[in-house]
Amino acid sequence: MMVCYHKEGALVGLFVLLLPIFFPSLFTSLSYASPSILSEWNAPKPRHSRLLKSALLRQASNEQKSDLWIPLADEGWKPCLNSGSTTLLPEKSEGYVQMFLDGGLNQQRMGICDAVAVAKILNATLIIPYLEVNPVWKDSSSFMEIFDVDHFINVLKDDISIVKELPEEYAWSTREYYATAIRATRVKTAPVHASGNWYLENVLPVLQSYGIAAISPFSHRLAFDNMPMDIQRLRCKVNFQALQFVPHIRALGDNLISRLRNPSSPIETGSNQIKEWTNEKSKQEGKFVVLHLRFDKDMAAHSACDFGGGKAEKLALAKYRQVIWQGRVLNSQFTDEELRSQGRCPMTPEEMGLLLSALGFDNSSKLYLASHKVYGGEARISTLRALFPLMEDKKSLASSEERALIKGKASLLAAVDYYVGIHSDIFISASPGNMHNAMVGHRTYQNLKTIRPNMALMGQLFLNKNLTWSDFEEAVVDGHGNRQGQIRIRKSGQSLYTYPAPDCMCRA
Ligand SMILES: *[C@@H]1O[C@H](CO)[C@@H](O)[C@H](O)[C@H]1NC(C)=O
Ligand SMILES: *[C@@H]1O[C@H](CO)[C@@H](O)[C@H](O)[C@H]1NC(C)=O
Ligand SMILES: *[C@@H]1O[C@H](CO)[C@@H](O)[C@H](O)[C@H]1NC(C)=O
Repeated sequence: MMVCYHKEGALVGLFVLLLPIFFPSLFTSLSYASPSILSEWNAPKPRHSRLLKSALLRQASNEQKSDLWIPLADEGWKPCLNSGSTTLLPEKSEGYVQMFLDGGLNQQRMGICDAVAVAKILNATLIIPYLEVNPVWKDSSSFMEIFDVDHFINVLKDDISIVKELPEEYAWSTREYYATAIRATRVKTAPVHASGNWYLENVLPVLQSYGIAAISPFSHRLAFDNMPMDIQRLRCKVNFQALQFVPHIRALGDNLISRLRNPSSPIETGSNQIKEWTNEKSKQEGKFVVLHLRFDKDMAAHSACDFGGGKAEKLALAKYRQVIWQGRVLNSQFTDEELRSQGRCPMTPEEMGLLLSALGFDNSSKLYLASHKVYGGEARISTLRALFPLMEDKKSLASSEERALIKGKASLLAAVDYYVGIHSDIFISASPGNMHNAMVGHRTYQNLKTIRPNMALMGQLFLNKNLTWSDFEEAVVDGHGNRQGQIRIRKSGQSLYTYPAPDCMCRA
């Protein structure tokens, strides 16, 4: 289902890219104006008020709470990156490969890992990949502004050669050069999930003729199956070791994490206090869950579901679909009920609140909200906040000076959330998109608890308007027992960045 969204997403990206050229005024007036200016919804009311009422009144039992925070059992899987056959650096480079990567931060992350693998397959020198400005996220931050480039090059130095910039003789090979005409050194026909041989047959000759090849588009362009083990291990090494955020992102992330863990004591004076807390409390003391909520207008419109904002909201989303995708959104052929029962609707903040409550979180649980813009804003988040008054986010935890370096930069904001997400006790996401998949993979690699919502189950439960709280709770708990981050072996066709076993992990 999400693969579908990606593929359409790539296509959609093109439309969105072209749109401002054709309809500049339309685009700016419609796209990201704040809802209050548009007044396109009446402040959304809770849709599941019966469940919500029970959720607000209940307090999780102590057993429920302590079960929740117990770390995952060790299933015997350990990261293994270096135990494969190590292939040496080629004696001579076949030339330079250059990639221009689409998507948001997490899609680009996978692109970077694949770029290293393709350069290795070709015995080529990799130029630090160029990150395209995504039409939805609109961030022009470069690789070096997001990732620690020297660390990246250093970790991979025995695997491939990487340069920050092209030498003088190839300086003409820029993003602008390829944007303006058809060029012999541009490879734009790489199929989705291309094999290693495809690159040897189609890109190696370009390298041999010109000394350089620019591959774009490159998202999802390297297969996950039938790859040599050393290439798979290399992709894992890039994702889990070489890609590290720049120091100021890590420092900010560390500050946020320490404030989440020691709320009452920004300075180290809280230790006496901790002793006074009861045992029950201390089980979750200092622990936090990260809730990733992608609920922006783009996603709300693309899902074609009804989110309870009434007729005005429905019209606004339909209009958005018309403008951005000319109405060509597969989901809009289905009714809300059909979409929900198939698990194709992203959960709203209210629905996430109910899910978390049923799982055993309560108003004493510390929550970090990882999110960009929430369509509907605070009006939509308020229900979640009522359930989880200890909810924090980047804004509530960091000073404006601390946020100055990342302000308005979607990729850097997402990087902070990624960093906090990786260091949380529990992670849960409201919809299975790129961030969710990246977290599932990275946290599996570290054996950390990651709850994967059962979207179809939740959709069906929310359709049943007369469900009692205890039936809801029981169904949610039963439906998520084996969805907490236990190792799932990658199946053919699945991504090794989401399912790192057995390619990146070995059984001890
Ligand atoms: C948490 O919820 C319970 C039950 O509704 C209530 O008694 C308690 O005061 C709440 N605590 C906080 C901190 O809101
Ligand atoms: C890459 O280099 C290795 C080691 O030098 C060699 O075995 C392999 O055939 C080379 N592959 C290509 C495509 O040049
Ligand atoms: C509740 O819903 C079930 C089906 O989901 C139905 O059989 C039952 O009659 C409903 N009860 C009430 C009181 O509406």
